[in-house]
Amino acid sequence: MSAHGRAIPMISKPSGPLSGEAHVPGDKSISHRALILGALSVGETRVTGLLEGQDVLDTGAAMRAFGAEVWKDGDAWVVHGFGVGGLAEPEQVIDCGNSGTGVRLIMGVMATSPITATFTGDASLNGRPMARVTDPLALFGARAYGRAGGRLPMTIVGAQMPVPVRYATPVPSAQVKSAVLLAGLNAPGETVVIEREATRDHSERMLTGFGADVLVEDSPEGRIITLKGQPELRPQTIAVPRDPSSAAFPVCAALITEGSDVLVPNIGLNPTRAGLFTTLRDMGADLTYENEREEGGEPVADLRARFSPDLKGIEVPPERAASMIDEYPVLAAVAAFAEGPTYMPGVKELRVKESDRIDAMAQGLRANGIEVEEGEDWWRVQGRGFGNVTGGGTVESRLDHRIAMSFLVFGLAARDGVRVDDGSPIATSFPIFEPLMQGLGAAIARDET
Ligand code: S3P
Repeated sequence: MSAHGRAIPMISKPSGPLSGEAHVPGDKSISHRALILGALSVGETRVTGLLEGQDVLDTGAAMRAFGAEVWKDGDAWVVHGFGVGGLAEPEQVIDCGNSGTGVRLIMGVMATSPITATFTGDASLNGRPMARVTDPLALFGARAYGRAGGRLPMTIVGAQMPVPVRYATPVPSAQVKSAVLLAGLNAPGETVVIEREATRDHSERMLTGFGADVLVEDSPEGRIITLKGQPELRPQTIAVPRDPSSAAFPVCAALITEGSDVLVPNIGLNPTRAGLFTTLRDMGADLTYENEREEGGEPVADLRARFSPDLKGIEVPPERAASMIDEYPVLAAVAAFAEGPTYMPGVKELRVKESDRIDAMAQGLRANGIEVEEGEDWWRVQGRGFGNVTGGGTVESRLDHRIAMSFLVFGLAARDGVRVDDGSPIATSFPIFEPLMQGLGAAIARDET
């Protein structure tokens, strides 16, 4: 069931060919950070291209609860910030809905201010682990009181006298790294985060853009990020690039739908995010980068995806996992149509996303005639090749937008299509998914039966 209302059953059926341009929405990770850093600077930050998905809107509401003004002015979102250390204590519980990024980053923001805040979310978010964030926040002097296993709802009592922290992240997580850096903003001295594997670096880039002193060094220990505390952040004008994680859906749909040729313009190809596209090309996908350029310090290109009938299963290098962590579900959907197995090792983190994504995809694929093997941190999808995928099953989206969209893409090339029990979570990250896909020619619709 949907967290905020009625479930929306959806179906997708063999369609084709997909053609035209897919203008996907703004990047979710960058959108959260633009609102948060806007709130942490004094004055007006203007953001264009902001993702207006529920996750980001919830972060905007949270910034208001801490004292920022956030409003829409024509095409732009404007944030009138309170500055580093200027947070007010919220009067109400902060509801972050479905968003792990939202709640974890905001906990970091408030943990070094002498205020108390209580956080909650939907059934998915309230089942996810928060100790990975509250452990390092405790080193700054913050205290956390949550449910068993470090779950939401949870109250954070911010540090009265924060101290800076040096922290090596035990899991590859941009959310944990970002929470520590954001907490470090209001601590004196230098806060240092060390990550063994590089995760998405939008926080480092945007903090620098807002005027913070951030040093990033590569070392044998991994990436070392040093932030000088108590900066005065300056408001910015931000153009949010389009989301590669959302682009993944029309791209993958085109690859598996006969005769397709789809252009997905203006996609951010930051190397910490673009692993899926490399993997698809390794599988033999007809996926090209056109008009490659730099925008706002980020590499950007137009992606062209054409039907690719000769996809081959591969082993995805585990060191690539962080750069495509949100894309494994849709990769698994594509892998079903490749020849041979696709083996995906080193992906334990998939088990603690909006759902256990290995389990959700494995069960859904099995219900549609695809064999899947799995271990704690790996899985293997046995591709059947084009024309041999029966489909026809119903899958549970488990309050997880990417599970819902991945199976709706899968259904476009499965003989008997697919039914998803609830498409409502799609609104968290890609509210225009349904009309956008229909505009390309995809038979994706609400199931009125
Ligand atoms: C995100 C980091 C990733 C990713 C999530 C967005 C971010 O989570 O899965 O969708 O914006 O920092 P983890 O930090 O848990 O890997």
